[in-house]
Amino acid sequence: MAKLKTLYFCQNCGAQSAKWIGRCPSCGEWNTYVEEVIQKEETTANNAWKASTSVGTTSKAARPRVISDIVFEEEPRIRTQDGELDRVLGGGLVPGSLVLIGGEPGIGKSTLMLQIAMTLRQLKVLYVSGEESEQQIKMRAERLGEQHPNCYILTETNTQNIFKQIDQLQPNVVVVDSIQTLHSGLVESGAGSVSQVRECTQELLKYAKETGTPVLLIGHITKDGSIAGPKILEHMVDTVLQFEGDRHLSYRILRTIKNRFGSTSELGIYEMQGTGLRQVSNPSEILLSQRTESLSGMAIGATLEGNRPLLVEVQALVTPATYGTPQRSSTGFDAKRLNMLLAVLEKRSGLRLGQHDVFLNIAGGLRLDDPALDLAVCAAVVSSLNDLPIRGEICLAAEVGLSGEIRAVSRLDQRLSEAEKLGFAEMYISHFNARGLDMSRYGIRVQPAGRLDEVLQGLFG
Ligand code: TYD
Ligand code: MG
Repeated sequence: MAKLKTLYFCQNCGAQSAKWIGRCPSCGEWNTYVEEVIQKEETTANNAWKASTSVGTTSKAARPRVISDIVFEEEPRIRTQDGELDRVLGGGLVPGSLVLIGGEPGIGKSTLMLQIAMTLRQLKVLYVSGEESEQQIKMRAERLGEQHPNCYILTETNTQNIFKQIDQLQPNVVVVDSIQTLHSGLVESGAGSVSQVRECTQELLKYAKETGTPVLLIGHITKDGSIAGPKILEHMVDTVLQFEGDRHLSYRILRTIKNRFGSTSELGIYEMQGTGLRQVSNPSEILLSQRTESLSGMAIGATLEGNRPLLVEVQALVTPATYGTPQRSSTGFDAKRLNMLLAVLEKRSGLRLGQHDVFLNIAGGLRLDDPALDLAVCAAVVSSLNDLPIRGEICLAAEVGLSGEIRAVSRLDQRLSEAEKLGFAEMYISHFNARGLDMSRYGIRVQPAGRLDEVLQGLFG
C-alpha cells in the first residue's frame, strides 16, 4: 500500500508547499493554498502513458550537438479543412503538438472541436468527452450535419482507461473535452485540482510527443478570463488559443495567445449559426453590414489584426456632461489612448470636450489596439460633437501624435486593397505614407494629411 501524502497547492499559480501558507510566496495571492492528496504508486513511474517503458528511455542521456549539424526536418502539417483554425495555428496542426483551447462556458468550444473532428475525413479522430454523454454529442453532431465515418466518441475521464482505448484504436488526432474533467489514478486529489490538471496534461503531453499525435485540449477559464488551473498548464502546451466573443452576438473570435509554431497575432473569425460555426473569410463584411448611412458619430477605420486587414466601425457618442466630472467610457479600444486623443483634440483643434461625456465603442464586439485607428476615433468624436455625419464612402487609417500630427501606419497597401474591395472611395492617410505610394494600383482616392486639422477640414468642411 502506497503511503498517503498530501501537499498544499496554490490554486492560482500552481506552487506547492508542505504546509499551508496564507500568502503564496511565488505569486503573492492570498488564501489560495488548498490541500490535495497525492499518492504515488511505486510501480508506475509518474505517468500513465506507457509508464513501464519510460523507465528505460529516461536514463539515456542526451549529448550536446553543434546547431549547424542539426538537420531541420519540417514535418508536414495536418490541414484541418478549417481555414480559420489553420491560419490561427500557423498553417495547420503540427504532429505531436498539444493545443489548448480556452473560452467562456457556452461560447462554442465543444462545437468547434466536434466540427473539426468531423471534418478531418481522411484521419481517425478520437473525441474524448468528460462533459457530455454520447447522446448529447450525437445530438450536436446531428445539428452540425454530415457525419464522419472515422470519428470515434469516448465518454471517459480516467486517463488510464483513455490510454487503453487509444492504444487499441491508434487515432491520428485526439480531442479532449475538457482537461479539467480528466483524472489520473496516479494522483488522489479531485478532478480539476491543480495536481490533477498538471498530471493529466503531463500524461497527454508525453503521449503526444512519443507518438506524434496532435492532441487538442479544451480548457475552462476562470472568472477573470485566464485558463483555469495552474499557469503551468499554459507553459506545458505548445499552443494556447482563446475562443471569445459576446455570447449574445453571433461572431466568435479565435485568438492565439501562445504558439510555438507560428505567429501569435493571427485571428480567426466564425459565426455561430443554427447548424454550427461558419467560417467568416471576409470579416469586414459582417462588421460593416449593419451600417446605416449618414449618422453622426460613426467613422470607419482600416485596421490590421495579425496579417489580416479589417475595416471596423468606430462609434462615438459625445453629449453634454450632466455631472461635474465628464465621463469617458471606451469599449474595445484602450481608454487611456482615448483620453490622450481627446486631449489632443482639445488642445490642438480647440474643441471643447471638457464639458462633454464621451462614449466610444468598436462595433461587433472586437477589441483592437492598432494605433492606425486613432484617426477614425478622432473623426467619430468630432462627428458626434458637431452632429455632422461622415460620408459613407470614406475610411481612415493613421496614427495621431501628441501635437496633432498625422503619423504613418504599417502595411498601408493591405489596408488600401481591403478598403477598395469593400467599395470605399476615399481614404485619409498620413502624408508620410503617401510618399512613394503608387496610386495607379488602387481604385481608391487617397487624401494625404499632415495635421489633424486638415483631416477635420476635409471631412466636415
Ligand atoms: P458549446 O460548444 O456547448 O460551448 P462550450 O463547449 O464552449 O461550453 O456551445 C453551445 C452554444 O452554442 C449553445 O448555447 C448553443 C449554441 N449552438 C448553436 O447556436 N448552433 C449550433 O449548431 C450548436 C451545436 C450550438
Ligand atoms: Mg463544452
